[in-house]
Amino acid sequence: MGLRSYFIVSVSLLVPTLAYVFYEADKVGFRKEITASMVLCVFGFLGTVLAIPRMTHLFIKADIFGFDINKRGTPGGDIKIPESLGLISATMYLVCLCFLHLVHEQPILYTAALSSVTLMTLLGFADDMLDLKWRYKLFLPLIACLPLLVNYTGSTSVMIPRPLRDYVGLNLVNVGYLYHLYMALMSIFCTNAINIYAGLNGLEAGQSFIICCFIMVHNAMQFSPVGDKDNLDSLRANNLLSLDILFPFLGCCLGILYHNWHPSKIFVGDTFCYFAGMTFAMASILGHFSETLLIMFIPQLINFVYSLPQLLGLIHCPRHRLPKYNKDTGKLEGIRSNLNLVNLILILTGPMTEENLCRLCLVMQVVFCCLGLCLRFVVLKLIT
Ligand code: UD1
Ligand code: MG
Repeated sequence: MGLRSYFIVSVSLLVPTLAYVFYEADKVGFRKEITASMVLCVFGFLGTVLAIPRMTHLFIKADIFGFDINKRGTPGGDIKIPESLGLISATMYLVCLCFLHLVHEQPILYTAALSSVTLMTLLGFADDMLDLKWRYKLFLPLIACLPLLVNYTGSTSVMIPRPLRDYVGLNLVNVGYLYHLYMALMSIFCTNAINIYAGLNGLEAGQSFIICCFIMVHNAMQFSPVGDKDNLDSLRANNLLSLDILFPFLGCCLGILYHNWHPSKIFVGDTFCYFAGMTFAMASILGHFSETLLIMFIPQLINFVYSLPQLLGLIHCPRHRLPKYNKDTGKLEGIRSNLNLVNLILILTGPMTEENLCRLCLVMQVVFCCLGLCLRFVVLKLIT
């Protein structure tokens, strides 16, 4: 099955996403900008897909590898799998952002996003090398988002939900530096949420790819929003900025997923998880839709809340919280004391092969993202 399911998953999401984004952008006259971003997306994909197999031997030589825990006891479990290949996709992504930088009208924001993603990639790679403790890991994104925070000149106001406006007497409230704190917390959440919903071949890169597609669809929907919008031009510009940041990410992410799909030839490492989370946080901060971003992270939110007793140290948290591999059946079995979504699904559904479990997680991600989008447009419309 292997790569066939990679192609099914990627094409079935990619084609409608690109077609829809292009259609909406064309309607409002952004055809040229979107075409340029699509070219960078292809560049990022090809660059990542072609560079990874040419670099893996260097990672093995430098002792940067891991063993596939879910194949322990089989020949696949003894193979040294190069780790932290997120470094390659992040580098390709940064090259794409530099090209974008040349053509964009808001170079300061691009420089800030570029610096934050660069710093996050560096710290992610440092984490992979040094195997940092959880309490330190948590603060890496806080350091990495500093370039954006100090350069952020956008609005620091939040909208008051419509039912409360009569009581407050205002539509918008300026929360000042609390907004910066909120942005920092977003970066910490997005990066770590992806990193702890992991451990199955293809899951880290797969969930990032799906989230990216859905944010892009959301951005495109905002080009021609329903109802009256006070400032349509800036709404469109913000969403175009977010699309500019996400298009190259989509390519680079799909490129690494190709090699990380079951059975993985490489591991993405914390470098990739942090780089992906930071890119989403950047896109949502610069595109001014950070509340909406959380709606795309529902499985990650469930995983995070369910993991809290172990993350806070109330219950013992082992180094790896993966399921148990049963050599006789070739299936993974849930472990009750490992409080994460992967184990919870296995406990609810019964044992499953790693590939099927990863596919189920990704289908769930798609379903929750669809639900999130509906929630965004139906429920939030009533209160904002
Ligand atoms: C997080 C999780 C940890 C999980 C790990 C797996 C928390 C608090 N931490 O830790 O429970 O075990 O991610 O990524 O929830 N690996 C596989 N198959 C894969 C991917 C990874 O076996 O498809 C193993 C490999 O041995 C690899 C290692 O996980 O070397 C990488 O783990 P790392 O990313 O360093 O773990 P953390 O992010 O610290
Ligand atoms: Mg990790």
